[in-house]
Amino acid sequence: MTAPAAQEKYRLDYSAPHYWIDSIDLDFHLDDHHTRVTAISRIRRNGEHNEPLVLDGEGLLLKKVQLDGRPFSAYVQSATQLTLSNLPAECVLTIETEIDPANNTALEGLYKSGPAFCTQCEAEGFRRITYYLDRPDVLARFTTRITADKAQYPFLLSNGNRMASGDLEDGRHWVSWQDPYPKPCYLFALVAGDFDVLRDEFVTGSGRRVALELFVDKGNLDRAPHAMTSLKKSMAWDEQRFGLEYDLDIYMIVAVDFFNMGAMENKGLNIFNSRFVLANPQTATDTDYFDIERVIAHEYFHNWTGNRITCRDWFQLSLKEGLTVFRDQEFSSDVGSRAVNRIRNVRIIRGPQFAEDAGPMAHPIRPDVVIEMNNFYTVTVYEKGSEVIRMMHTLLGEEAFQRGMKIYVQRHDGQAATCEQFVQAMEAGSGRDLTQFRRWYSQAGTPVLTVRDEYDAVAQRYQLHVQQATPPTAQQSEKLPLHIPLSIALYDSRGAELPLQRDGESVSGLLELTAAAQTFVFDAIAERPVVALLQEFSAPVKLDYPYQDHELCLLLAHARNDVVRWDAAQMLVNRFIIEAVRKQERNEPLCVPEALLFAYGSVLQDQKMDPALATEILTLPGEGTLLELFTSADVDHIHVAREFLLDAVATRHAELWHAAYQCHHIGGDYTTDGAAMARRALANLALLYLARAGLGEERVTAHYRQANNMTDTLAAMQAASVADLPVLASLLADFEQKWQHDGLVMDNWFRLQAGRHDAQTLERVKALLEHPSFSLQNPNRVRALIGSFAANPVVFHARDGSGYRFLRAMLTQLNSINPQVAARMIVPMIQFGRLDSTRKAMIREELQALAQLPDLARDLYEKISRALAQ
Ligand code: TRP
Ligand code: ZN
Repeated sequence: MTAPAAQEKYRLDYSAPHYWIDSIDLDFHLDDHHTRVTAISRIRRNGEHNEPLVLDGEGLLLKKVQLDGRPFSAYVQSATQLTLSNLPAECVLTIETEIDPANNTALEGLYKSGPAFCTQCEAEGFRRITYYLDRPDVLARFTTRITADKAQYPFLLSNGNRMASGDLEDGRHWVSWQDPYPKPCYLFALVAGDFDVLRDEFVTGSGRRVALELFVDKGNLDRAPHAMTSLKKSMAWDEQRFGLEYDLDIYMIVAVDFFNMGAMENKGLNIFNSRFVLANPQTATDTDYFDIERVIAHEYFHNWTGNRITCRDWFQLSLKEGLTVFRDQEFSSDVGSRAVNRIRNVRIIRGPQFAEDAGPMAHPIRPDVVIEMNNFYTVTVYEKGSEVIRMMHTLLGEEAFQRGMKIYVQRHDGQAATCEQFVQAMEAGSGRDLTQFRRWYSQAGTPVLTVRDEYDAVAQRYQLHVQQATPPTAQQSEKLPLHIPLSIALYDSRGAELPLQRDGESVSGLLELTAAAQTFVFDAIAERPVVALLQEFSAPVKLDYPYQDHELCLLLAHARNDVVRWDAAQMLVNRFIIEAVRKQERNEPLCVPEALLFAYGSVLQDQKMDPALATEILTLPGEGTLLELFTSADVDHIHVAREFLLDAVATRHAELWHAAYQCHHIGGDYTTDGAAMARRALANLALLYLARAGLGEERVTAHYRQANNMTDTLAAMQAASVADLPVLASLLADFEQKWQHDGLVMDNWFRLQAGRHDAQTLERVKALLEHPSFSLQNPNRVRALIGSFAANPVVFHARDGSGYRFLRAMLTQLNSINPQVAARMIVPMIQFGRLDSTRKAMIREELQALAQLPDLARDLYEKISRALAQ
């Protein structure tokens, strides 16, 4: 296997840089294939030594090097570095390079998104712009001067405040920018293009006026207001809940169509994937509206947790990402439904995050070894990282947590910090010892809590015996007990919550696990109680407790915590799936337990329940999450079991589904308030079940024809697809004809077709690669079509290996076009641990073939080599 400069880097090898860079003045002359970049940097030696200055640089054409204004030649150039020797303690270094943005399909560094120039520098993209100390602990003051053709690029943007501008004789013009806050180079940004601008203003708590500017492609202004509203909401919330104010006079957001991730928090100049900006009722779904608000908030919150306080090194990524995800989740929960937000986040942990823990790329939220940093922007670093912050919040409480935040900001503003320093600030704010808690940062894997209980009727005593163990993960076999907050409640047989007490004193339902095995005793319990475990999903763990069906039904009906109610329904489903897979292995007929059908019926009849919560409860877990219930299983059996349950719920409750549809499908003007979205979600779920029950063809068609918003349009198509209705073909054709000019909208169309279960799906996906709206160069299109195909449990895992062969062919192309996107697309292929042996062997073969690629990118190399090592 070729190792393309695949150096492992270790967290413990950190050492401070030999030189600091205090300021950098960048001068860009933009041109499609020959952009000139001049960088003038003030360099200062860090202490007494004779080490050379080793700058990072990739894909650069070096034109000129000067030291203190004079030609300089004591340097050596390699493919990835520029090494300069014999430098004085302080000097000014001028470096001129040339780059080719128009041929940059990796979308890292300076590239073209359609007609516009833009940048993406996190994590290590700045080295594709100029030679530099491309590491987050080097903080410099940046100025940027941009020169480009004025007609094509009327807007020339960079970080900070606009200082000056002017016209040049040859139709070109220039603008200069100054960012007053020292920053690492990964936060540098430049945009040049022609846009429509939505302008607004925000007045901060201390009365400063901030100009807000949102740049979108020409003609898209009507799709910009929701993002602007979201930004203002985020700015107000961060002041109210965290006491953090914005710090520049201007905040700009630019939406671009070609972008590897969701968005980027560049100081004062966020760059966004257009999918997380553009929305109007005709083009965006309720989910899009929600995600835009969430991502706008996330990037805004980075201004403090990420920019003002950044990361010392990339191993500390969760310092900014885990914390910022926690902040955006809290924002969404404060402005929307806390329960529904919590449930959606739990689904991410139990699905993709647990799968990552179980796979070859398992890593702690603060990784110890990395080959390609881009591979560590993961659900573990982000979502589990947020869970770790949330557990501290749970243990400390809001007040002490906010005291810790204040200390963190006071101590580290303007610095590049570590996760350890964040925990120290939390200790200082709360007076609590988090020594053992720190293991969450270093230990990978999903802990399993095994809970057993005992009730002594004579002593009226209830005991909970709790054991914790974390199974070994790839690269880490030894595991230690963690400090785990376990939130519980007890209910009597009528569903009333019981007070928790011990020796006559009331005790907290927040149990703190610290040992491998612990027992918790509660007295004065008059009858055998039903225990609600892991309320609010108080820790990212798996739970093993022998619930009876009737206990789960009681929790679903009566628990005071909505996450517990949802979870009770999930556990009923899980038990059915496990049983149904076993039955298929023994060729026995399947049947759905009455308890489960009864539970679903009672949720549908519950008039008091928030329809958004009902929708969450009535939505079955996906196949990926279900696979986590097994150590090894046939994905076909899981799929058949899930489909069987879908049909049973559809037919048994057809009348209730009909009633729910009638009640919640309201028509009228489209609004995106929480209540309207909730009712739409339940109505559309009802439509899907009705279609599945064979009662839907006319209703689905009418739903599509009458839809005045994209959510309803797609719900009709989804119902037609899931129920395999003949009308689907005409709906797809109609949709295509209406939307083929709009890539973002067409992504829904690609997703739907790549997610179908019928035998023609692979051939259809292959044909769609040639569709005029599709492009392998656009990450959104690739994710929509190829990503959805690889997430399709039936078709991707086809017994004949055709799905695996197809993905290998796609990855072969993407490896050369865009390695970051390729490395994301390969995830379902490397997580083969729980599959049957035949499928495992087929996947291995494809991975071995990919490993032979002559120009295998580091991104794929790291994942493939770790997968094959398993
Ligand atoms: N910091 C960004 C965020 O989470 C992540 C990001 C955007 C990113 N673009 C990227 C990470 C490209 C790696 C590569 O908000
Ligand atoms: Zn982020």
